[in-house]
Amino acid sequence: MSGKKRTHRVVAVNGGPRKNGNTARLLEEALSGAARQGAATETVHLYDLNFKGCRSCFWCKTKENYLAGRCAQKDGLSPVLDLLADSTGVVMGSPIYLGDVTGALRALFERFVFINLAYDLDAPSVLKKGPSVGLVYTMNIPKEGMGPAGYEVILDTHAQFFSRLKSPRFEQLFSCDTYQFDDYSKFHAPMFNEPHKKEVRATQFPLDLRQAFEMGQRLAQNK
Ligand SMILES: Cc1cc2nc3c(=O)[nH]c(=O)nc-3n(C[C@H](O)[C@H](O)[C@H](O)COP(=O)(O)O)c2cc1C
Repeated sequence: MSGKKRTHRVVAVNGGPRKNGNTARLLEEALSGAARQGAATETVHLYDLNFKGCRSCFWCKTKENYLAGRCAQKDGLSPVLDLLADSTGVVMGSPIYLGDVTGALRALFERFVFINLAYDLDAPSVLKKGPSVGLVYTMNIPKEGMGPAGYEVILDTHAQFFSRLKSPRFEQLFSCDTYQFDDYSKFHAPMFNEPHKKEVRATQFPLDLRQAFEMGQRLAQNK
């Protein structure tokens, strides 16, 4: 798999449970950008799949198998791991849950990143070239709150482990201060200012969508 020419395709992985939420909208836009560049597109909703994170069997690190970049665990994620490995670009999105990506996306990271890494300082990736990777994060917190909340440090760890996959491109997009309820009047959430959220939704979110579109265009260029 690692030396094979990839299919000119960008895959969106929705790591959040909502199919019409902020994250899903941004991913749709990224795929529109990729399609504009002539790439095939596909969306995977992780919450539709039955899978778990790495089980630490270390099959992918055995002398016989470590170069294959494959996972011994067979479940709902298995075809997705193959799909990602065979695509020119991958855009993964997640709402921030308690300061990090969702557990579902984290489980995919454990599987996809770990099978493609080797315990070898001279050759840390088993891929000749990884897919281009874009990560899209959506969150309640405003952008200026990310640093004080420690998010920049946590989200930078994603950049570090993806950088070892020899991806020609790695990008992160942060969509902050999102509009999270359909109707704020139904919920007890006095810490949120609904008119402010509406304003951000009307003014900033369209700019975030535009950035996602452009990210999709760039991810599609890694042929
Ligand atoms: C379980 C849960 C935990 C959350 N934790 C955080 C958090 O730690 N920081 C934050 O900024 N937003 C947090 N949020 C808000 C979501 O990240 C935010 O509303 C996001 O844009 C929702 O994305 P979606 O519309 O795609 O579902 C949380 C939401 C839920 C449901």
